[in-house]
Amino acid sequence: MRIAVLGSLGQLGRDLVPRLPGEVFALTRADIDLSVPGSIAGRLAELKPDIVVNCAAHNLVDKAEAEPDLAWRVNAGGVRDLARAAATVGARFVHFSTDYVFGLDAGRASPWSETDAPGPVSIYGASKLAGEYLALAANPRTLVIRTCGLYGVHGTGGKGGNFVETMLRLAGQGKPVKVVDDQHCTPTATADLAEATVKLLSTGATGLFHITNAGATTWFELAREIFRQSQLSVDLTPISSEQFNAPARRPGFSVLDCGKLARVGIELRDWPEALAGYLEARKAGKI
Ligand SMILES: NC(=O)c1ccc[n+]([C@@H]2O[C@H](COP(=O)([O-])OP(=O)(O)OC[C@H]3O[C@@H](n4cnc5c(N)ncnc54)[C@H](OP(=O)(O)O)[C@@H]3O)[C@@H](O)[C@H]2O)c1
Repeated sequence: MRIAVLGSLGQLGRDLVPRLPGEVFALTRADIDLSVPGSIAGRLAELKPDIVVNCAAHNLVDKAEAEPDLAWRVNAGGVRDLARAAATVGARFVHFSTDYVFGLDAGRASPWSETDAPGPVSIYGASKLAGEYLALAANPRTLVIRTCGLYGVHGTGGKGGNFVETMLRLAGQGKPVKVVDDQHCTPTATADLAEATVKLLSTGATGLFHITNAGATTWFELAREIFRQSQLSVDLTPISSEQFNAPARRPGFSVLDCGKLARVGIELRDWPEALAGYLEARKAGKI
């Protein structure tokens, strides 16, 4: 089995590559740039993978509002070209998407299932939703995995940043911390997502699946739990999304229902337990 992984230096990619079976080709932007159509098909033809896994994305939600063309090229057009190139070499295609395909239904208060109609409220969310449709249309052997609130030991883009690390850094600076309390989601450890992805892959699943840790919370509650588990006393205040005033809109409620995953026998642990695992690994110097 030959598996090509794009975005192998991202936080999910770094946790997924060592868990995959067979011969794994850990690709970076230097190997295939999703914004450059000419760099895709030739490279896959050389590698002849059985499976192509795409962990790469234009993943900067606020920046995407300022550079929509690039976000659409990477998250939609590039994904379509990749899925098509995978089909041409006879490979299955595995692609990651996001809870941010939801948000338009402001009154929503129950978890979203794979059959619910999406409605994004940002350039990032819209471009990722288009990527889902295009991938599924371009390669019939496509598996799209929507996930949420990722944090992994390698930080976003390998640059040492994720929400947990940001909170711990702010706590270390001793300053008051204000965090939004009106966005409900499920923080998910990339290590847990990577393990579940490998299990799901082994079932031969195609189509759309939701994978997150279990439970739901807000970014404010997550920050409080990070500080509680780390035994840090921090001046923490809940604020609204309106007060935070980020360039991109976010869903008020984007908790994903993972029942379809459970029905194939795969369940992830509760998010506070996954967080504890991350903080333990951190303490043990594994991060
Ligand atoms: N992070 C989250 O909270 C979250 C939530 C829901 C869903 N997701 C989805 O989960 C997947 C993995 O996310 P992640 O947090 O692991 O992302 P990440 O850490 O930001 O990694 C993304 C990777 O994509 C690469 N990349 C960016 N633009 C590229 C391009 N034009 N061509 C090729 N590679 C490119 C980056 O390379 P460089 O290092 O060179 O920039 C980086 O290695 C993505 O599909 C994302 O949309 C993430």
